[in-house]
Amino acid sequence: MRLLTKSFPCTLLSLVGLSQAAVVSHQWTLSNKDISPDGFTRSAALVNGQYPGPLLQFNKGDTGLITVNNHLTDPTMRRSSSIHWHGIFQHRNAENDGPSFVTQCPISPNHSYTYQIALGQQTGTFWYHSHLSTQYVDGIRGPIVIYDPNDPNKNLYDVDDATTVITLTDWYHDTAFNLENAWFAGGPEPVPDSGLINSAGRYENGPLVPLTRINVQRGKRYRLRIVSASANGFFDVSIQNHRMTIIEADGIAVKPYVVDSLQILPAQRYSVVITANQTVDNYWFSATQTVRGATTASTNPNFNGSDTFAVLHYAGASSGEPTSSQVFSSGPVAFNESQLVPLINPGAPGGSSPPDQVFNFTFGTNTSNGDVWLINGIQYQSPSVPTLLNILTHANATFGTNEHTLTLLPNAIIEVSFIGTAGHAFHLHGHTFDVIQSASGGAPNYINPPRRDTVSSGGTATAPVRIRFRTDNPEAGLAAVFAEDPSGIRSGPQSVNPDPQWGQLCNIYNQLPDDLK
Ligand SMILES: *[C@@H]1O[C@H](CO)[C@@H](O)[C@H](O)[C@H]1NC(C)=O
Ligand SMILES: *[C@@H]1O[C@H](CO)[C@@H](O)[C@H](O)[C@H]1NC(C)=O
Ligand SMILES: *[C@@H]1O[C@H](CO)[C@@H](O)[C@H](O)[C@H]1NC(C)=O
Ligand SMILES: *[C@@H]1O[C@H](CO)[C@@H](O)[C@H](O)[C@H]1NC(C)=O
Ligand SMILES: *[C@@H]1O[C@H](CO)[C@@H](O)[C@H](O)[C@H]1NC(C)=O
Ligand SMILES: *[C@@H]1O[C@H](CO)[C@@H](O)[C@H](O)[C@H]1NC(C)=O
Ligand SMILES: *[C@@H]1O[C@H](CO)[C@@H](O)[C@H](O)[C@H]1NC(C)=O
Repeated sequence: MRLLTKSFPCTLLSLVGLSQAAVVSHQWTLSNKDISPDGFTRSAALVNGQYPGPLLQFNKGDTGLITVNNHLTDPTMRRSSSIHWHGIFQHRNAENDGPSFVTQCPISPNHSYTYQIALGQQTGTFWYHSHLSTQYVDGIRGPIVIYDPNDPNKNLYDVDDATTVITLTDWYHDTAFNLENAWFAGGPEPVPDSGLINSAGRYENGPLVPLTRINVQRGKRYRLRIVSASANGFFDVSIQNHRMTIIEADGIAVKPYVVDSLQILPAQRYSVVITANQTVDNYWFSATQTVRGATTASTNPNFNGSDTFAVLHYAGASSGEPTSSQVFSSGPVAFNESQLVPLINPGAPGGSSPPDQVFNFTFGTNTSNGDVWLINGIQYQSPSVPTLLNILTHANATFGTNEHTLTLLPNAIIEVSFIGTAGHAFHLHGHTFDVIQSASGGAPNYINPPRRDTVSSGGTATAPVRIRFRTDNPEAGLAAVFAEDPSGIRSGPQSVNPDPQWGQLCNIYNQLPDDLK
């Protein structure tokens, strides 16, 4: 069944009467506004004036039509934009995946683009963010939930709605431009000023901004959907007096796994169930933020990673913060990624038999260029023509060295090893993958390894992190870029056929003066 045709009116027509799956339309305005989520006021780049951006809620099988109207005007930040829908497979729909210069040209100021996103069979917790350079740290980022009416873990919780979505972000008082320029001029890697839980946080010696409140009623079970929409560092989450049962990782339902604390890397998501069975009171929800291995930084005295809290508030308790110490013991069971077992159809593609293609990614940094990241000695730099456009317009397209584009065979089993111990969150577009060797250690697992879309690359020299996936989604990914089955992208039953508004993006963008790009 082909749910999504590529021309806008046809999409609406072809969906009518097809199934009960809905078309969910949203009008978004990107604009600049002063906000002060941690008490420090700065201009930010926002979706519909909100931080984090509005929660996108879908049901399984829906199609999203998200019109992004770009009204960014502040010259201290980028004024063009594009939006990536992290974790959404975008089958035959690479042109709506969002990364600037990989699958599209940016949306120019005073212009619009409508992303058409058929969600297929995917369910769970995702997020979106600007995918033009580092623009998202200026504010264009927010959560996505795709509800599953037949969730296999549904009997484990009572409440799962907008009030149980928890977005964790790093927050900076300066703009992405300034942070980047200082870094590339030889300064230290930027360290955030604070960590935010939803829309609130605090920085060291800053004002006592009211913390985010997560409201519960005694006796109910809550599915908290925890999203790291961070750019840097990771969060360790624990909730005073409450254990967490993990039931989802990155859109994949997992066997219930009970922990006392949870480590979440940038771009990862977990659903955890908590039972509100303690004395009616207020409890600390703690999300300690570690950046470059530490919770403080000599380069930024504002940063105190140990001071990222929300309040778990039981109905009937006093308003305000818990009176108990913020330093609480979270219990003995620490999270271990290798314990995440997919509930449905576990097992790495190909089992333990040799894969069809192997890639070794060795991470490094260029010390003469502000320690920017290198993969296999190459710094990724955007091409001027988006990779997808290159593939669509050239049979046997070739790619520039710094475009770092690796071609994958169709319908093949791919294994990627991350060599070197630098821990970095690695995300693959268009796929989940099986983590046959996790950074948390243990023997290789081909039987029921964790399945997710973002993984820590920080293994050891003798046990590098290894992932496996099957190429079933012709797509141009990122980081290094995988061009998956380029000829399949161009033609045949899996091909990608962008509509004219996509083609116009580059014509408009290429005419912009540099400062508006
Ligand atoms: C966008 O439109 C406004 C209002 O028409 C105009 O003032 C502004 O110059 C335009 N900006 C760009 C970059 O074209
Ligand atoms: C509260 O619920 C947890 C399950 O999350 C359970 O392990 C614990 O025993 C319960 N505690 C009380 C006091 O009922
Ligand atoms: C950081 O925040 C924690 C929690 O509020 C506090 O105990 C600590 O004193 C603060 N400062 C430093 C430098 O850790
Ligand atoms: C990847 O690295 C492993 C371990 O160092 C090595 O055995 C293998 O030959 C490498 N494969 C490729 C394709 O580079
Ligand atoms: C490292 O940075 C220097 C200075 O910007 C540059 O000349 C060199 O080409 C870079 N090396 C790599 C491998 O990108
Ligand atoms: C692309 O490569 C294929 C296989 O190598 C070849 O048959 C075909 O002629 C090439 N097409 C062009 C336009 O070069
Ligand atoms: C995680 O669990 C595996 C067993 O599945 C174990 O071998 C490994 O040591 C554990 N990692 C940590 C950090 O405890």
